Amino acid sequence: MNYEDYLKTAPDDRVKYYQRDDRMYHVMRTQQFDTSLLEELFEIANQIKLMTRKPNGIDFLKSLLRHKKAMLYFTQPSTRTFLSFLGACQLVGMDTAEVRDPSLSSEYKGESQEDAVRVFSSYFDMIVMRDPKPGFCEYMAYYLDRSARSVPFINGGSGKDQHPTQALLDLYTMYRSFQDRGGVSGKRYAFVGDLLRGRAVRSVIFLLSQFDDVEMYFVAPDAFQVAPDLEQSLEQSRVKIIKSGNLKEVLPDVDCVYMTRIQDEYDMSGESGQINYDQFSLYPDDLKMMKPDSIILHPLPRRSEIHPEVDLDPRAMYWRQLRNGLYIRAALMLYVFNQSHRLQEY
Ligand code: NCD
Repeated sequence: MNYEDYLKTAPDDRVKYYQRDDRMYHVMRTQQFDTSLLEELFEIANQIKLMTRKPNGIDFLKSLLRHKKAMLYFTQPSTRTFLSFLGACQLVGMDTAEVRDPSLSSEYKGESQEDAVRVFSSYFDMIVMRDPKPGFCEYMAYYLDRSARSVPFINGGSGKDQHPTQALLDLYTMYRSFQDRGGVSGKRYAFVGDLLRGRAVRSVIFLLSQFDDVEMYFVAPDAFQVAPDLEQSLEQSRVKIIKSGNLKEVLPDVDCVYMTRIQDEYDMSGESGQINYDQFSLYPDDLKMMKPDSIILHPLPRRSEIHPEVDLDPRAMYWRQLRNGLYIRAALMLYVFNQSHRLQEY
């Protein structure tokens, strides 16, 4: 099948191309994760987390993927996600190499990006990729699947569209936070800020919509409300949606507040400059309005949308969320290489 025909397949139906022998092989889109796979991954991540507390646990984990090597190809700015993948590879013993600036590689000499990535597949067993071009990671996976040197691709964030591993760590944090309170289902979640262009928020909203009885509040400036395609898919999943422009009104009702920064790197003509982002920011005084057992998340990096004083509140979970990213990404690697069953040997 040529790529044009491949793209004609509806995104949800493309999931079958990311599978090998009934297992997830490429990690491309949040649509690949159903609730039972999520629970399996969360259980693996929980075990990894516990093992990292003991020296012999750390040594055992490091033995699991010692025979594998990963290329981290991050040609769009990233600190957290890059380091998180690097740390996750180190947890499970994988060697890594990185490309962050293609101008320092032979792409500078005129080599196509396709050829450059193909070279990595000869040296490495997995490619983790963040590229500014939407769909590039998927295209490379398709391209190499047709060659004899296919390796698993993990999407580390593609344009405005998808950021599946961020969604996993966000949901894992919700799952852990609500585990003694009936779980992720039946809760109210507020998503605040640039909901149109934030791929992290887009991705986690999709994952969360699979759970029962969740209500979602979308608190955003009109210009940056959730995209129509996402809203439509939520309506199909019968998620109750409430749109609002007023954060203070919503705070007392919700169990989770997911804050996001304005994504002005995607501005076409300075549209972010028109927005007073203060109304979509969280200040220490606002905490009084929130439920005592609610949680505050943020994919980070933040700007001024969460006042640093808020960090001191026990409901601020974003630093923990960051650490959870290590465990869930390590879990994903064990899963993709079909090694997670070996955790039982410990
Ligand atoms: C997010 C991203 O890159 O989409 N950050 C991240 O991966 N930790 C969110 C953002 O940049 O606002």
